[in-house]
Amino acid sequence: MPLVTTAEMFKKAYEGGYAVGAFNVNNMEIIQGITEAAMEERAPLILQVSAGARKYAKHVYLIKLVEAAIADTDLPIALHLDHGADFDICKACVDGGFSSVMIDGSKYSFEENIALTKKVVEYAHAHGVVVEGELGTLAGIEDDVKVSSGDAMFTRPEEVEEFVSRTGVDSLAIAIGTSHGAFKFKPGTKPMLRFDILEDIGRRLPGFPIVLHGASSVPQEFVAEVNRYGGAMPGAIGVPEELLRQAAGMAVCKINIDSDLRLAMTAAVRKHLQEHPADFDPRQYLTPARTAIKEMVRHKIVDVLGCAGKA
Ligand code: G3H
Ligand code: 13P
Ligand code: ZN
Repeated sequence: MPLVTTAEMFKKAYEGGYAVGAFNVNNMEIIQGITEAAMEERAPLILQVSAGARKYAKHVYLIKLVEAAIADTDLPIALHLDHGADFDICKACVDGGFSSVMIDGSKYSFEENIALTKKVVEYAHAHGVVVEGELGTLAGIEDDVKVSSGDAMFTRPEEVEEFVSRTGVDSLAIAIGTSHGAFKFKPGTKPMLRFDILEDIGRRLPGFPIVLHGASSVPQEFVAEVNRYGGAMPGAIGVPEELLRQAAGMAVCKINIDSDLRLAMTAAVRKHLQEHPADFDPRQYLTPARTAIKEMVRHKIVDVLGCAGKA
């Protein structure tokens, strides 16, 4: 099966009340671990590449690795640019074989975001590529956040219809309290998401796929494993998985996960090298790292996203 866009995946996910996992990739072991889990669980899959990953691994290497993953499986796989910052990087990924791009204009004014997103949509659609836009700025929320200041960072539901209709985007990333990285919530506070905003957006855009960034759960057993070998991640707290399951049953069709993969991989490498200090063959420590990625992705697919068996 060739690379696909996310259009069909999202339609089925919306109707089926589940979400598709979008996993960040930057090397062969990560791509293999993710793809093997998706293949065994018969799950649709989005592999996504950030600007940093593209710089690290080079566009052509990532394209060829994803082509290899496609040849190795008959799954529907989309290749997506994560957080495209400007038109040029989106164009480079459209021209360079991606099936989906994100233009992240969330740091601009509403009008500037619309103008930039529309320009990317026109170019991408002319080349058969779908586009994710973003409204609202990701940040953590805490029990004691004051509504007036806190609301400033969340997506404003009253803006979404105009944004979607004027830009023509195919999906929309929103801010309801998730954030990037491993430190999402203050220790001692109860992590929560603004489901009221998600519900409102869902009512305003019936059938339209919503995207959740910053959705790693930061499992404490992996944090402990990293800390045990000299890591410094005390206070790392992620999004509880039951909240993600709830979002997947609503309008959220794509859930982005990167930090959990980094955590699983790093914990496995640290553990291996601690237990086998004489090893200096990368295959020895990257084998458990790849397995850790695979098992993390399997867990997300089966227990969190609900997309097992949906390919
Ligand atoms: O949303 C951010 C992703 O986790 C990518 O992170 O820019 O460090 O590759 P990165
Ligand atoms: P996490 O840092 O929570 O994994 O979020 C990743 C993400 O949103 C990539 O776009
Ligand atoms: Zn993100």
